[in-house]
Amino acid sequence: MDKRVALTQSLAIFALCVGVVLPGYAFAQAADVPYVPTPMAVVEAMLNIAKVGPDDFVIDLGSGDGRIVIAAAKKYGARGFGVDLDGALVSQARREAARQGVTERVAFHARNLFITDIDQATVLTSYLFPRVNMQLRPRIFGELRPGTRIVSHEFDFGNWKPDAHVHVPVPGKPYGPPASEVYLWIVPANAAGTWQWRSAVDGALIECELTLDQTFQMLEGSARAGGKPARIQSATLNGNEVLVVLVAEVNGHELRQELSGRIEGDTIRGKSRAAGADSDWQATRVVRGKINIDA
Ligand SMILES: C[S@@+](CC[C@H](N)C(=O)[O-])C[C@H]1O[C@@H](n2cnc3c(N)ncnc32)[C@H](O)[C@@H]1O
Repeated sequence: MDKRVALTQSLAIFALCVGVVLPGYAFAQAADVPYVPTPMAVVEAMLNIAKVGPDDFVIDLGSGDGRIVIAAAKKYGARGFGVDLDGALVSQARREAARQGVTERVAFHARNLFITDIDQATVLTSYLFPRVNMQLRPRIFGELRPGTRIVSHEFDFGNWKPDAHVHVPVPGKPYGPPASEVYLWIVPANAAGTWQWRSAVDGALIECELTLDQTFQMLEGSARAGGKPARIQSATLNGNEVLVVLVAEVNGHELRQELSGRIEGDTIRGKSRAAGADSDWQATRVVRGKINIDA
């Protein structure tokens, strides 16, 4: 075989192997989503819905010209970084960050979003196709701290119901209808399992138990108080903050308990409000459950 043909074939096989074996590398990958910049009015709505502030670390996956991270730093004093496969866009974002005087607080990397560490984020932003969001979903639950806000322009995360949503009119939008959707999700703590505590009722302590099933941030389950079934009137979770309203029959009368607290590992510490009186509330998890994210 001609030496040049052999060399070309070897290079082709090498390139194929690199593309298959190391798909994370920017040079081996085509963009999963084309570059379309988020209109500035929508960037503003995204930062607002997440209530971005100076303590936040914003990561934009597929950051384009860097506008989301730059606006978060410039207007709200946040820090953060963006990653994009397109080196020219990364250079443009760096130049723009310098022009806007925020280079101390932001960085842009030519990197595949699928191999980007995201655990530093307190706010994760994206304008990516649903297919890409769905690939990221297990990482959001596995790698991000409870309370981290996820903000997406236009596309959702399948059956993970958003915690908030705004419709943003964009007159003169250069593509599609003259409006955009902005969605917010808050990464929930794991509240699943069985929790126990004691409540003071009529001068005596009664044993209470709450068993929670969790799908994303949604809670349902069953409860007992004083050895009898109790009704869960509502149960909500916002990051680490849990709020449960229980209605139980104790000593022949209906007792409504409003329990609010913060989940830290297998302990909830907070307040219990019953019959108009507040007291400290501490519950301990005796059986740990799993968040269902495959629903
Ligand atoms: C729709 S644009 C959004 C740009 C920017 N986030 C904004 O909202 O203005 C999507 C960006 O993701 C980048 N991208 C696509 N696939 C990527 C990947 N696997 N890793 C990193 N960036 C990617 C594209 O180059 C493009 O700049």
